[in-house]
Amino acid sequence: MATRNKVAKAKSKATAARAKSSAKKSSKKVVKLKVKKPAAKTAGNGLPRLSSKPFGQAGRALEGVRILDFTHVQSGPTCTQLLAYMGADCIKVERPGVGDITRGQLRDVKGADSLYFTMLNGSKRSITIDSKHAKGREILDRLVQQCDVLVENFAPGALDRMGLTWEHIHKLNPRMIVASVKGFGPGPYEDCKVYENVAQCAGGSASTTGFRDGPPLVTGSQIGDSGTGLHLALGIVAALYQRIRTGRGQRVLAAMQDGVLNLCRVKLRDQQRLKHGPLTEYSQHGEGVPFGAAVPRAGNDSGGGQPGWILKCKGWETDPDAYIYFITQAPVYATPPARLPRLRQIFDTVEKWTETKNKFEAMEILNKYDIPCGPILSMKEIAEDESLRATGTVVEVDHPTRGKYLTVGNPIKMSDSPADVRRSPLIGEHTDEILRKVLGYSEKEVGDIKQSGAITAPDKPAKAEAA
Ligand code: COA
Repeated sequence: MATRNKVAKAKSKATAARAKSSAKKSSKKVVKLKVKKPAAKTAGNGLPRLSSKPFGQAGRALEGVRILDFTHVQSGPTCTQLLAYMGADCIKVERPGVGDITRGQLRDVKGADSLYFTMLNGSKRSITIDSKHAKGREILDRLVQQCDVLVENFAPGALDRMGLTWEHIHKLNPRMIVASVKGFGPGPYEDCKVYENVAQCAGGSASTTGFRDGPPLVTGSQIGDSGTGLHLALGIVAALYQRIRTGRGQRVLAAMQDGVLNLCRVKLRDQQRLKHGPLTEYSQHGEGVPFGAAVPRAGNDSGGGQPGWILKCKGWETDPDAYIYFITQAPVYATPPARLPRLRQIFDTVEKWTETKNKFEAMEILNKYDIPCGPILSMKEIAEDESLRATGTVVEVDHPTRGKYLTVGNPIKMSDSPADVRRSPLIGEHTDEILRKVLGYSEKEVGDIKQSGAITAPDKPAKAEAA
């Protein structure tokens, strides 16, 4: 957008000059023409006129936004992949010869990028740049000038050590938004490196997950990494919107601890309620177990006003996922307070029935009576679910070295911005294309850059193979 503005300015200067000279030429003979009123560009309220194109054919939501994607592992890539699905041109910068460390982690197909990487880096382009090489720094500076947003999730201080301080970036491109994921916000832990489970523990999720008589538990949902990536994406989109008014970029920070806490705010709610008496909706209250000073683990309690639990279905003895989540709304116990002291009795009775049905049969019957319930779906069942494929939530893409694989498409559906879900790039696949077409380097300059070692791996590249 930065250079695009310059081009637009230059064009309007040229038009004005042309108009001036043609006015000079025609100064002798004045012909009065009926002035045609120019068509209004805006609808009068600052918004453009309504598009006449059918929904879904007016481009994607973030078309025209270019992202310098300096992310790795999971949290940052989740954010930029989502923005890419929404139409942003996402340029992923990777270390030559190594790339994002996840390319080689948890590999299932020898020699191919791992699913860890491919499922988090779809719809992006990849360029390799050694950010510690003088020429590499120069290329990065050019990228900063050509992009709208820089997204990174390096360890605290790493971006500064590359010379990409906020001051440097802001000077080069005052419109640039610099968005970061860090483990913690400012405070005693701000310099710490953080991974998913650390964030789940520090954000209050682990202490409130699991059973009362067991240890704290981390969840399978990646609320620390993917959850924080989602928070960052929202911050970026909001900053892009504010930039329309202010013209300038800003820093956006999503700390993993903060993101996790935001997702378990109901537990902070309960912490404050504890001062005023027991948490009556927790099954431990019905069982007569006193509360301590902090919010306890609540097992499978529903956490809301309507009590719920996970019940066995037919086949539970052999199938670990033959269960259903059941919320009680029995008429005999018309109000939640009437149900709470008898929860075990209620669920034991219902379970005698659910055990005679498989989870899908139980769901079908219960839905007829408007009883909120949900089958415990295994990842196998989700991978094979036709309705998730039909909505584009689960997408199959083809990859040149690993073949077909499943990925999660855009979970946010937009009626005028169809998701753009493409396979992940190979390492450095678009280096040449970006150097020439985005950064404007000539044939000779690209040759010199290749010779310089700024975009190629050293003779003995570090091994990416891990875990
Ligand atoms: N060229 C040259 N060097 C590069 C490079 C490139 N293209 N890309 C990265 N590097 C360097 C960095 O400059 C850094 O070097 P330095 O420490 O000498 O300054 C080095 O690679 C390591 O980067 P870093 O991000 O610190 O990786 P790490 O393996 O030490 O730590 C995390 C990994 C995830 C723990 C850390 O990045 C982190 O805490 N990130 C923030 C929180 C987060 O997102 N965590 C969740 C990850 S899913």
